[in-house]
Amino acid sequence: MLVAGNWKMHKGPAEARAFCDAFTPPAGVDVVVCPPYVSLAAALASGLTVYAQSVHWAREGAYTGEVSAPMLLELGVTGSIVGHSERRQYFGETDDSVARRTAAALEAGLGVIACVGESEEERESGRTEFVLVLQVESVRDAVGAHERLVVAYEPVWAIGTGRTATAEQAQEAHAFIKSLLDRPVLYGGSVKPENAAELLAQPDVDGALVGGASLEPSSFTAICEAAAAAAA
Ligand code: PGA
Repeated sequence: MLVAGNWKMHKGPAEARAFCDAFTPPAGVDVVVCPPYVSLAAALASGLTVYAQSVHWAREGAYTGEVSAPMLLELGVTGSIVGHSERRQYFGETDDSVARRTAAALEAGLGVIACVGESEEERESGRTEFVLVLQVESVRDAVGAHERLVVAYEPVWAIGTGRTATAEQAQEAHAFIKSLLDRPVLYGGSVKPENAAELLAQPDVDGALVGGASLEPSSFTAICEAAAAAAA
C-alpha cells in the first residue's frame, strides 16, 4: 500500500516544516508527500519520503519554469507525480508529454506516479474505457511495466469536488487499468478519512493519491492508518 499526499500549490517551506513536525507516518504503509518545488527541501529535512508534482523530460536546457529529474535526485527527492489532471487541464499536458516525462524520470532513477482518469463528460458519454486506454497505453508504450512506475486512477469529476467514485467504480476502473498495464494502481479523488477504508478494501486499489485531505496531519494520518489496516 502506498499513500501519497499531493499538496498541489499549498504550503511554503514554513508550513511544510510545521506539517512534517506534526506528522509521523504509521507503520505498515509506504507514505510520500508531494510539496511544491520550493518546499521540497523543507520536507526532506524531516526524513519523510518526498516526491515532486511534475518533472521535465530533459536533463537541462532552455525550459523556463521546469525542473529536471537529476535536479530532484540531487536534492534527495525520490520520485514525482506525472500527468496530474490539473496539469492536463490547465497547462497543456498531453498523453505524449506525460509519456516523455515518465520515461525520463524512470530512466534517471526516480519513481513515478502517472495519473490517468476520465472527465465527467467522458464518463457520461460512455467513453471512460476509451480514454483510459489512450492514457495508459501511451505510458505503457514508453516504459512498459517498469518496477518504479505506479499508476493513479483519478476521475476528474471526483477531484476536489467531494464526489468520490464509489468503491465499485474504482475497483472496475483499476481492474481495467491493470489489464492494460500490470502495475499497482492508486485511487485519487476526494479521498477522506470517512471513505478511505472502503476504497482501500477493494482488491485492485493499491493505495491512494490524496489532495485536500493530505494538508492536515490529522486527516492524512487517518487515511494512512486506513491503508495500513487494509494491507494487514
Ligand atoms: P482531492 O485531490 O483529494 O483534493 O480530490 C486529489 C488529487 O488531485 O490528487
